[in-house]
Amino acid sequence: MPLIFDFTNLLTGGVGEKAGISEEEIKKFAGPAEKIVTEAEAKRLPFRELPYRDEYAKSVNSLAGECAGRFSTLVNLGIGGSSLGGNALVSALAGSGGNHREASVFFPENVDPDSFSRLLNSLDLEKTIFSVVSKSGSTAETAAQFLVVRERLISRFGPGGYRERVVAITDPKKGDLRRLAEEDGLRTLPFPDGVGGRFSVLCPVGLFPAAMDGIDIGEVLAGAREMDKRCRSTDLFQNPALLFAILLFLSSRKGRGMVIFWPYSDLLIPAADWFRQLWAESLGKRVSTSGEVISAGQTPVRAVGVTDQHSQLQLYIEGPGDKVVCFLAVNDYRTVVEIPNAGISLPSFSYLQGKTLNSLIRAEQEATEMSLTNAGRPNCKLVFPRLSAAHLGEYFYLLEVATAFAGALFQIDPFDQPGVEEGKKLTFGMMGREGYEEKQKEFLEWRKRPGKIV
Ligand code: PA5
Repeated sequence: MPLIFDFTNLLTGGVGEKAGISEEEIKKFAGPAEKIVTEAEAKRLPFRELPYRDEYAKSVNSLAGECAGRFSTLVNLGIGGSSLGGNALVSALAGSGGNHREASVFFPENVDPDSFSRLLNSLDLEKTIFSVVSKSGSTAETAAQFLVVRERLISRFGPGGYRERVVAITDPKKGDLRRLAEEDGLRTLPFPDGVGGRFSVLCPVGLFPAAMDGIDIGEVLAGAREMDKRCRSTDLFQNPALLFAILLFLSSRKGRGMVIFWPYSDLLIPAADWFRQLWAESLGKRVSTSGEVISAGQTPVRAVGVTDQHSQLQLYIEGPGDKVVCFLAVNDYRTVVEIPNAGISLPSFSYLQGKTLNSLIRAEQEATEMSLTNAGRPNCKLVFPRLSAAHLGEYFYLLEVATAFAGALFQIDPFDQPGVEEGKKLTFGMMGREGYEEKQKEFLEWRKRPGKIV
């Protein structure tokens, strides 16, 4: 059974006239939807082709195979799109491949000196391999992490031992990381041309950590290919990516400027974080493709089921009606945990005895869905029949294509991120990078502004 997009509770019948979306409203998009799909099919951007690039899976599996047995830990040095996809795959599927690899994989991402040094100090460096991942090859956080690790490896193992313990995943031709990797004689995997960070999970960026963990990456890609078939349909009721994009776009037009992404599976928390970056960085844009200032976007927020029923749900049900919820539900969890029958007759315990944690989490997900719906709060869900490699492939592909389609609806370019450039330049200036002296001056001046601190 494929991944399911259930949008029942977004429609007017479920959530009342004001909050819901009518079928007529959706049908008005039939024309634009057909145009969006036809244009996307005519262009077929490089990220759309990744599920068909068998050569990547081959080189990833061959390198991961070489490393298996020798290294029991992988640390992925990268940030944003160079980390989140791999983390999502590994978290959801760890140990599911049924082979001997199963390395522990860490995605530190941050340059927090405390957590980064704690991680490094906890590693058995003899058995640890590092992947340094950067499309541009110039991201400050990744470069800094790599310099710290490089120095440690060289001083402990010498240049040869360092070379054996690092794989660089970067642009095949350009960038400073590519140059350094070549100078140092590192093994490399390609970060394909034309594929942006947040659309890179189905290339070596996401596949290498997954393969190191023994995940069947061929199945992930097969799932993505299945989803691609569905995403090619110009009939919007047959195309889950199109419908997802249209329904969230319409929700935002109705004042729902936030989407709560709510996995009822701890293993899917990084998959929700992956979506959070994809939707935020792709759609949050100041100007439209025609240059008009529109400040577009919809704020993705990640919640956790059932935990956030005891933290956020009150707000979602009774607070401002500015949110649409998307649950991630799982039918068959990987484990069944029975609640033992201990013969306790106290009412708070007795009804649970003989049941499972599985039935409890499922009941709570559906109860939350129903209570939101009854309160006029629109919601939808993506249902994973199981947490399988193929379903994860479907999930990534569905949401990447939906994001590209949403870009067309919001009339913005979903593939750039001009808003984060200024912060990067100021950081370069403050850290003394050549060519950024003006930025350093600007920043130093800004720091002098009168503070209001108590
Ligand atoms: O999605 C994106 O483009 C960003 O999140 C990048 O992945 C992130 O900034 C890291 O960039 P790079 O891979 O160039 O180091």
